[in-house]
Amino acid sequence: MLTHIKDIVKHAEENKYAVGAFNVHNLESILAVAETAQKLDSPVIIQASEGAIKYIGLKNFVDLVTTAAENIAPDVPVTFHLDHGKTDHVVYECIKAGFTSVHIDASALPFEENLKLSKEVIDFAHEKGVWVQGEIGPIMGGHGAVGGTIEDVPIAKLEEVIEFSEKTGVDTIAAAIGTAHGNFDNEDIKIDLLKEIKSKTNKPFVLHGGSGVDDQKIIAAIAEGVNVINIGTDVKVAFSETLKKTCKENPDETDPRNLLRPCIAAVKEVAEGKMNLFGSVGRNFNK
Ligand code: G3H
Ligand code: ZN
Repeated sequence: MLTHIKDIVKHAEENKYAVGAFNVHNLESILAVAETAQKLDSPVIIQASEGAIKYIGLKNFVDLVTTAAENIAPDVPVTFHLDHGKTDHVVYECIKAGFTSVHIDASALPFEENLKLSKEVIDFAHEKGVWVQGEIGPIMGGHGAVGGTIEDVPIAKLEEVIEFSEKTGVDTIAAAIGTAHGNFDNEDIKIDLLKEIKSKTNKPFVLHGGSGVDDQKIIAAIAEGVNVINIGTDVKVAFSETLKKTCKENPDETDPRNLLRPCIAAVKEVAEGKMNLFGSVGRNFNK
């Protein structure tokens, strides 16, 4: 059931679990995530990057997730979200198309410019009842990158996170605290920084780069107030590896459904594992 993200995040915050925000790339991954949420009685955020929106089509993405929320996951809270919107233009396009939750990621700009652009977007979005995630980072790596170590993981400055939160009125905070986009051996979570950010901003925290992070670190971060966890690479890898394997094992198969069904199952497995880890299973507050 389509639900505003504010209700989903507030429930997670009050009940000390995290909601999975899954990056989807096609119809199959949307179906997999929605079916898993319904099966596990879990709230869920289905999100698309600018690249995924270009691939699927903006209106198609809105319509597909709306339909999935109504028909596949009708009993659980579902919302859709723009992930890493890099410009005000893309954010405004998404709001016009019906998004009630967007991420303005101007974190690659100098801090003052990030603050200015984010505030403009937030003021505009709030007039329309839309929630905005802002980012102080940047969070490095690449969605889908796998293996090895990542050099130079930037860490957000606490004073900047506090100033950003106070001056922009942002709804949820994404800050670089040691994770990276992709799946790397040296990903970390600076729990002390997370604690400071939570106590000084008192706002919901979104953990980016959720793939590749040790489960125990994720559990500790949720205990310290991470409310949303983004998962992209694990979804991509599960889908692609399964597709490659299925094609290799069935070189004569001509029915795309037979090649794609195992991919849906693989993404479901990822979503199920994460929902269990994040503690969102059985947290359906629509009951
Ligand atoms: O914005 C998306 C996420 O931060 C995904 O990160 O690819 O490491 O799971 P990940
Ligand atoms: Zn991210």
